[in-house]
Amino acid sequence: MQELCHKSIVLTGGNSGIGAALLKELAKPERYNKLLVADKSVDQIPEMDHVKAIAIDLSQERSIALLLEQAYRSFEKIDLFFSNAGLAYYHGVKSDQWSGLDYLFRVNVLSQLSLFSSLLHRQAEEDFRFVVTASGMSYMGIPGYASYSASKHALLGFASTARFELKEPQTLTMVYPVATRTRFFEQDTGHRAPVPWPSQSAEQVSRAILRGLERGQKDIYPFPGFRLMIWFHQAFGLGWLYQVYCQRVFRRFFGKE
Ligand SMILES: NC(=O)c1ccc[n+]([C@@H]2O[C@H](COP(=O)([O-])OP(=O)(O)OC[C@H]3O[C@@H](n4cnc5c(N)ncnc54)[C@H](OP(=O)(O)O)[C@@H]3O)[C@@H](O)[C@H]2O)c1
Repeated sequence: MQELCHKSIVLTGGNSGIGAALLKELAKPERYNKLLVADKSVDQIPEMDHVKAIAIDLSQERSIALLLEQAYRSFEKIDLFFSNAGLAYYHGVKSDQWSGLDYLFRVNVLSQLSLFSSLLHRQAEEDFRFVVTASGMSYMGIPGYASYSASKHALLGFASTARFELKEPQTLTMVYPVATRTRFFEQDTGHRAPVPWPSQSAEQVSRAILRGLERGQKDIYPFPGFRLMIWFHQAFGLGWLYQVYCQRVFRRFFGKE
C-alpha cells in the first residue's frame, strides 16, 4: 500500500469536477502534501499555505514550460503529476471545425503528452507517477463524442507505448472514468449535454483514483463493471447495442427524431 502523504503534487483541472474532488482529498492537512494546481480559472481553489494555484491555458505551448517552471520553483522534484484537465464537444461530426478540433486536441492530447515528456526529461533518473485522466471513451466512443473519443483513444495509444521508456518505479497511470456528473457536460452553446448511463459523482471517481494509486495500479477503472463491459465489447462486439441506445439519445437531443 502506497500512502499518498508527504508528496509534491501537480494537478491540472483542479478548479472543477474530478480535479476539484482530488484536490479536496489530497490537500487535507493530515496528508502533509504540497500542491500546485493549474486551471484556466482558479477561483474555486481554496487558499491554503500548502496549495498554490496558477491560472494557465493548457492549449498554449508556452503554458507547459510555465507550469513546470513554477512547479520546480515550488518543489525539488514532482512526486505525483495529475494531468486531468480536459473538455468535450457534444455534437455531430458535421459541426466539427478546424479551430475547435485544434483546441480540443491541444488540451486533451498535446498538453498531456508534452507535460509527460517534459517531466520525463527533467526527472529521467528520479521516481515520479504521472496520472492521466483518460476516459471510458478511450475504448469505446459514443455518438455525439466522435472528436472527444478520438482524443482519448490517442492517450491510450500513447500510454501503451510510452510506458516502455520508463525506469521502475516511474509510473504512467491511466484512469478510465465513465460519465461523471461534472461541468464537463456544459457546452459552449449553453446547452447541457445529456449525461450517459451509467454515471458516477466526481467524489466516487476521485476516491477510486486514490485507492488505485495506493494499491499501485497502472490502469484505474473507477466504475466497477466497466472492465467487464469492455471485455464483452472487445470479445463479441456487444458495445454497438449501447452505442445504438446512445445514438437515439443523440438524435432526440438534436431533434432529429
Ligand atoms: N465528466 C465525465 O463524464 C468524464 C468522463 C471521463 C473522463 N473525463 C475526463 O476527466 C477530466 C476532468 O473532467 P471533469 O469531468 O472534471 O470536467 P470539468 O468539471 O469540466 O473539469 C475540467 C477542468 O479542466 C479545465 N480546462 C479545460 N480546458 C482547459 C485549458 N485549456 N487550460 C486549462 N484548464 C482547462 C476546465 O476549466 P474550465 O471549466 O474553465 O474550462 C475545468 O476546470 C477531463 O480530462 C475529462 O475528459 C470526464
